[in-house]
Amino acid sequence: MSPPRIGQGLLWLGVVLSSVCVALGSETQANSTTDALNVLLLIVDDLRPSLGCYGDKLVRSPNIDQLASHSLLFQNAFAQQAVCAPSRVSFLTGRRPDTTRLYDFNSYWRVHAGNFSTIPQYFKENGYVTMSVGKVFHPGISSNHTDDSPYSWSFPPYHPSSEKYENTKTCRGPDGELHANLLCPVDVLDVPEGTLPDKQSTEQALQLLEKMKTSASPFFLAVGYHKPHIPFRYPKEFQKLYPLENITLAPDPEVPDGLPPVAYNPWMDIRQREDVQALNISVPYGPIPVDFQRKIRQSYFASVSYLDTQVGRLLSALDDLQLANSTIIAFTSDHGRQSMDLVELVSLFPTLAGLAGLQVPPRCPVPSFHVELCREGKNLLKHFRFRDLEEDPYLPGNPRELIAYSQYPRPADTPQWNSDKPSLKDIKIMGYSIRTIDYRYTVWVGFSPDEFLANFSDIHAGELYFVDSDPLQDHNMYNDSQGGDLFQLLMP
Ligand SMILES: *[C@@H]1O[C@H](CO)[C@@H](O)[C@H](O)[C@H]1NC(C)=O
Ligand SMILES: *[C@@H]1O[C@H](CO)[C@@H](O)[C@H](O)[C@H]1NC(C)=O
Ligand SMILES: *[C@@H]1O[C@H](CO)[C@@H](O)[C@H](O)[C@H]1NC(C)=O
Ligand SMILES: *[C@@H]1O[C@H](CO)[C@@H](O)[C@H](O)[C@H]1NC(C)=O
Ligand SMILES: *[C@@H]1O[C@H](CO)[C@@H](O)[C@H](O)[C@H]1NC(C)=O
Ligand SMILES: *[C@@H]1O[C@H](CO)[C@@H](O)[C@H](O)[C@H]1NC(C)=O
Repeated sequence: MSPPRIGQGLLWLGVVLSSVCVALGSETQANSTTDALNVLLLIVDDLRPSLGCYGDKLVRSPNIDQLASHSLLFQNAFAQQAVCAPSRVSFLTGRRPDTTRLYDFNSYWRVHAGNFSTIPQYFKENGYVTMSVGKVFHPGISSNHTDDSPYSWSFPPYHPSSEKYENTKTCRGPDGELHANLLCPVDVLDVPEGTLPDKQSTEQALQLLEKMKTSASPFFLAVGYHKPHIPFRYPKEFQKLYPLENITLAPDPEVPDGLPPVAYNPWMDIRQREDVQALNISVPYGPIPVDFQRKIRQSYFASVSYLDTQVGRLLSALDDLQLANSTIIAFTSDHGRQSMDLVELVSLFPTLAGLAGLQVPPRCPVPSFHVELCREGKNLLKHFRFRDLEEDPYLPGNPRELIAYSQYPRPADTPQWNSDKPSLKDIKIMGYSIRTIDYRYTVWVGFSPDEFLANFSDIHAGELYFVDSDPLQDHNMYNDSQGGDLFQLLMP
């Protein structure tokens, strides 16, 4: 019997699964390399749903839109902590930040929390060749300076050589001099090495795909793109797609009256850039001059379009190499909230394992620090509609996930220089959020970094927003509500 197929991929932003014929059934469970599906995992840094496939009318993202058009596109995917290293370690291990105990950039989970298996490690142990290109794990201590090699990868990860210029003075300012700016459209021929990191990563990935075409083993290739993370350093031709006069301002730029100060992000990283410093913007609340707001948005969108062309090159190569029909594509970002079904990035691990026909790791017990292989997320296989199946054994009665959890640490009740990214020892408060179809509820509670313990009787502030009546979250209803029932959902 030939295995049933689905003609879909996985795009979550938060993941897109793409154009694959995913073979499911007993044949693939058998771990035979002939049937095994490859995996291409695309991780984009700081991408929000500014994409055509999410309804954005201005942004040009034809390649990602094309991928999304035959993918399962999640409309409401949530990162577990919107900071690069904690988010990546969370979804790559399938555990929440309170289990990886990584809230900053400064510890390696295998020695600090538990020896947790990762998605690529699991595929590697199941006969896959696993490869990392670009920013997959966050570099540095949080992946032991090796992107978790040798555990996760079959051979040493690739990093683009031009990455080291990202934050250096390579942006030509109006004064003709080079600066380390936030806004950095460049002439690629003019920058050091004559290339940019994401271009190099694409080229490396294309070479690896070419090699894998004749490989006896299936592959798991993770490609991590740097843009649209700041600085917006991108080929200047992409700026032309977005004339300034066509750029609208953010729909809701004011700090809402009812926002507790602990919830405010003072965007210190942006303020450190030379062009932003020159604006002498008031700390912590701003505002940013309107002209500059437009320029930031222009360069963000241009960076997204630049990223989109890189994704397009990879997808074309999959087609050209005739790998497209045997490759699961997952597309995700480490941050960003999407505005249907609620899913969490922590579910990527069980879902990819399930789609590839591998055994889905068991649910984690509580606590799970001693368990190497388990998952805190859900297997989202049931979200895929198996069009070619007459009967779908995976479609359950409950079509949507109910709650997405996330958290964010703070050093103090008011905005500080390190509010965006406090080191573990400085964390005094943790914000825990639940997002349902109907509301977002957050409590900011006392937190002990020595014991990794939140004190839910020490409430510093709260937020409650209703999705239907207040989609932009301007009217904090926390003080008008009892919150008791919601609070129970957050208790460990
Ligand atoms: C951690 O897991 C890896 C991969 O399974 C294994 O090689 C290593 O021995 C484990 N380390 C410890 C300290 O258990
Ligand atoms: C799958 O195949 C690989 C390589 O042949 C083997 O190492 C691994 O143990 C197998 N996994 C399972 C679950 O049978
Ligand atoms: C982390 O890297 C160091 C230095 O390379 C190495 O000695 C150590 O064993 C690594 N940690 C783990 C858990 O593999
Ligand atoms: C800018 O807006 C004008 C007016 O809506 C439109 O005609 C033009 O095509 C837009 N340009 C771009 C590059 O989107
Ligand atoms: C920066 O702004 C502050 C007030 O927000 C003002 O006192 C100061 O003079 C300004 N500095 C410059 C260099 O414009
Ligand atoms: C994928 O397509 C190629 C060429 O069109 C074909 O040779 C191959 O058998 C197909 N593989 C699967 C798994 O359908």
